[in-house]
Amino acid sequence: MKHLLKLQDLSTEEIINILNLADQLKYEKKHGITHHHLKGQSLGMIFQKSSTRTRVSFEVGMYDLGGQALFLSSRDLQIGRGEPVQDTARVLSRYLDGIMIRTFEQKEVEMLAEYGSIPIINGLTDYCHPCQVLADLLTIREHKGLLKGNKLCFIGDGNNMANSLIVGGIKTGMPVSIACPKGFEPDAEIMKWASENGDFTCTDNIEEAAAGADVLYTDVWASMGQEDEAAARRKAFAGYQVGDRALAAANPGCMVLHCLPAHRGEEITDEAFEAHADEIFDEAENRLHAQKAVMVLCMKK
Ligand code: CP
Ligand code: NVA
Repeated sequence: MKHLLKLQDLSTEEIINILNLADQLKYEKKHGITHHHLKGQSLGMIFQKSSTRTRVSFEVGMYDLGGQALFLSSRDLQIGRGEPVQDTARVLSRYLDGIMIRTFEQKEVEMLAEYGSIPIINGLTDYCHPCQVLADLLTIREHKGLLKGNKLCFIGDGNNMANSLIVGGIKTGMPVSIACPKGFEPDAEIMKWASENGDFTCTDNIEEAAAGADVLYTDVWASMGQEDEAAARRKAFAGYQVGDRALAAANPGCMVLHCLPAHRGEEITDEAFEAHADEIFDEAENRLHAQKAVMVLCMKK
């Protein structure tokens, strides 16, 4: 595996390999076993958007693996003043051993990989969030024992999370359903691919999507960069929530996941969040283990 740009680029086998290594690294960390797989290596972390989990988990992950992470805010980089991505990629490739980038356009991530000569890891774009979904799959597998056959239902905006969950779920044999208001569907090409390659549905009816679900997933109604639309989106998404209605339709023992940050009372009720807090914070923890696996597989020399 050279880069992690989007989950479409990975085979099912590669995804399972990442999850297996993540399990092993998690076990080792819990038992105080250290392996400096990335000894002496440096990861640059470019952030054009805010982050709590992604920043801290990558930084701690690099430390655990014997390397270091550099936090590079786009406010301080010349990229924020218009230096082309193509040039930034070639310069940073001369100093660093890998780059994690969180930005707006997926094209920027793809261009870093095209022009640079080091592994590039996507830490979220408007299009997808592959690191998050690898952690989500790890969490589902831990709690349910297996992925295949467990139905994953996403309720809310057809955003970066929805796009990556569809790809990750279908590639690992999970039936995937989406409930979103009309006009807020996930990426059309991803939905077409999902329908052709697995058990996929998209509807505006919450009960229909949540029926028989083993995992209910949601995310904010307004993503980073959509702050101006927040009020209009609150109207459009009213009721597209993980709460009693969705849980009543789901299977008994259904998990609830949220990539975080969460807005209680909007996409998730406080009751549903707190009742499933253990799953949600396992999911947040698993960012660390899943990303360490990704870094080892992409960067180990
Ligand atoms: N879920 C997630 O990516 O969190 P951050 O925005 O805090 O990194
Ligand atoms: N859809 C959210 C995910 C945050 C982790 C956003 O892009 O802001």
